Amino acid sequence: MGPFKLKTTHFAVMQPDSSAPPLLRSSARKAPGPPDYYLLRRLRPTARDPIGACLGLWRQYGDITRLHWFGPHYLHICVHPAMVEHILQANWSNYSKGFFYKRLATFAGNGLLTSEGDLWLRQRRLAQPAFHRARIARLADLMAGEVGALCERWEREKTAEPFDVAGEMMRLTLQIAARALFGTQMRGAAAHRFHELMNIGMAHVEHRTNPLSLPEKVPTPHNRRFLWAKGELQKWILEIVHRRRTGEESGDDLLQMLVDARDEDTGEGMSDQQLFDEVITLLIAGHETSADALAWGFSLLARHPEKREELENEAKNALNGALPAQADLERLPYARQVFEESLRLYPPFWAIGRETLGDDVIGGYEVKARSTLIVPPFLTHRHPEFWPDPDAFKPDRFTPEQVAKRPKFAYFPFGGGPRLCIGQGFGLMEGQIALAVIASRFRLELAPFEKLVMDPSPTLRPHGGLWMTRTRI
Ligand code: HEM
Repeated sequence: MGPFKLKTTHFAVMQPDSSAPPLLRSSARKAPGPPDYYLLRRLRPTARDPIGACLGLWRQYGDITRLHWFGPHYLHICVHPAMVEHILQANWSNYSKGFFYKRLATFAGNGLLTSEGDLWLRQRRLAQPAFHRARIARLADLMAGEVGALCERWEREKTAEPFDVAGEMMRLTLQIAARALFGTQMRGAAAHRFHELMNIGMAHVEHRTNPLSLPEKVPTPHNRRFLWAKGELQKWILEIVHRRRTGEESGDDLLQMLVDARDEDTGEGMSDQQLFDEVITLLIAGHETSADALAWGFSLLARHPEKREELENEAKNALNGALPAQADLERLPYARQVFEESLRLYPPFWAIGRETLGDDVIGGYEVKARSTLIVPPFLTHRHPEFWPDPDAFKPDRFTPEQVAKRPKFAYFPFGGGPRLCIGQGFGLMEGQIALAVIASRFRLELAPFEKLVMDPSPTLRPHGGLWMTRTRI
């Protein structure tokens, strides 16, 4: 079977239909894939290069691949936009979040990203108003101010030496997330310590994605360090929560909304534990993804000087040396397109995981209950049926006319359906502002030794950082 075989039209007639007679439903075939025990035999190379492995399987088997996982369990990789739509939107309630999210929960607890069912629905409803378009628009000044402060520091610390842009973006976006969501300003030693604790937490999540890693209750040095860091973060966050609960401090931010929220039936507020889980989730989900996308954006601009120049000209004309306010954003469409195209080529969530609750039919193929599913934006975003010249960096793909021509799920860096990223508007605005402000003031070039290797775990980032030099324009 050749690659990219499944056409949207084929898919449309094969949609599972609960009203269909049992005979028709059970006529679905097994999806194509390598012989059983493939994964077991190829565990090491697959773990070393999961993206390369997925690309190879896609080329060989087409838009859906079935792999033996363990025991009676199978893993399916689903690439076609119609399949993605089925899993994330049309039949979303038949899927739970699965393996990776269980590992993420060791750090993020039962927050929005990892929770399921009634708890998730209640918390999503509580948090949604804080992410309303009008509220997010009010954050433009804060974001621009933080990017401006970063540029001033770069100017003060004049250097021709390569520096790690990925690390800088990580600190920038964490600072923005903390200020926007919880009103907390972090500078100097406090910021440094906070970054360190978050890094230990994220390194632990990465470590626990290895199926052979030991659970937290086993007192290995690694686990003890993680539990210590999580405890320190908990103390820090719950102190702020306590000040909000007692009225010693207040704010017009998400934390205040979460602290004030009451259950409609019981009138009870959230426990300290639930509040901590939500706060840490928003910090995790809200900074690493944006930082990864910005780092890849700068690497792409450095490799395409003509695109960088176009962005620089747009930003200089629109901003005239000032920082952007919300009203200026419509005069920075190219900055937004550059960010969207960076998210296409390097989606931070390069693969989204799910587990089937009940048997299903996807694209005409049977998928049994308790199967693991992977929907990989990294692959779908390169599907040649929807993306001509898929590996090329072309921000013009994101003009409104071009976007309207594509099916919705050909592009899903923020997921989709009910579990769509709550911070999509936040992340897009942050990316647009950071690219425009930095491109209008600095020219970033790749350091001669920078090899640009992808590190896919847990989010897709440049391996070992992104080393660049900067020149003031
Ligand atoms: C470029 C930046 C971002 C990217 C690429 C991104 C990507 C994603 C994706 C793919 C999902 C869905 C995961 C799934 O279905 O399993 C998601 C969910 C989520 N994201 Fe983002 N995200 C970004 C920025 C943000 C920001 C800035 C915040 C918060 C301030 C945020 C908070 C969340 C939360 C809470 C969820 C879980 C939503 C739910 O299940 O109800 N994200 N994100």
